Amino acid sequence: MKTEINGETVIMGIIGGNIKKSLSPFLHNTLMKHYSLNDCYLPFQISVDQLPAAIKGLRALNIKGVNVTVPFKEKSMEFMDKVEDSALKIGAINTIMHKDKLLYGYNMDCIGFKKSLLEEKDIEIKGKNAVVLGAGGAARAIIYALCQEGIKEISIFNRTLEKAGKIEKEYHAFFPYCIIRIFAIGDRCLQDKINHADFLINTTPLGSYPDIDLNPLPENILLNQHLIAYDLIYFPAKTSFLRQAKKAGAKIINGGPMLVYQAVESFYLWTGIKPEKEIVRELIHKLHEKEFSNK
Ligand code: ATR
Repeated sequence: MKTEINGETVIMGIIGGNIKKSLSPFLHNTLMKHYSLNDCYLPFQISVDQLPAAIKGLRALNIKGVNVTVPFKEKSMEFMDKVEDSALKIGAINTIMHKDKLLYGYNMDCIGFKKSLLEEKDIEIKGKNAVVLGAGGAARAIIYALCQEGIKEISIFNRTLEKAGKIEKEYHAFFPYCIIRIFAIGDRCLQDKINHADFLINTTPLGSYPDIDLNPLPENILLNQHLIAYDLIYFPAKTSFLRQAKKAGAKIINGGPMLVYQAVESFYLWTGIKPEKEIVRELIHKLHEKEFSNK
């Protein structure tokens, strides 16, 4: 964002049901300022019944693009003129591009997750095993990314088994070489699956602010030093799950880098500018500082 808004300022933003703590405005406005763009990124908090009107408003007000967050990632797809293939298969979008009077839907969570491992941490996915906790919209994007990168086996543990079953069935058709197994969260084989996993990924909201003492793992589960424990939550920066993993000697990653990488992808889509590696690193660092100052 430039220091002053004028008649030519291009508007982008985020629509969601509860975005008061969203860090997306901070990330995008930092990038817009860095590249001296006459652009501005705004928060649009809306209720469920306002979604159709809000999306119509994007067209009417000529808003260039928005990110879409909980609880609209699935529902907003039906208002798009075109949805990118992977977003269609995942069943959710988190980015809308308004171009030539048409609305295009994308899912940048998928690429954001991949880059947080492959680029940020130089971690390979191919041939590995993963345990994923949760089977909601975020889990669908993460599991899609893991399958695309050639993961060998994924064990999904979820409270509602049917939701995990839907992922298993749908994704098997897209990725027949990836083994997907499903279990109820309390299943006794969780410990065994974790013992043989390379990745343990929490996609549930358990442990996020304000219920920061919750942990998605049942009691008595032991973690080990060979694991990469990944929590999609970024606030707090170190959840109870990540603290437990750290104590066991595991490598830990929170949702900060993924948030930055998906923001960078949306920014590139809207502006045509691909932020350099150093800028991305700086954003991740700034986000980290912000998370701690928010506590
Ligand atoms: P998101 O888009 O962030 O993934 P979501 O689609 O609502 O949000 O999915 C949240 C996930 O966390 C789901 O897998 C949900 O389990 P259910 O499929 O049984 O609903 C899981 N989850 C949420 N609250 C939970 C809780 N208290 N205990 C266990 N799992 C929970």
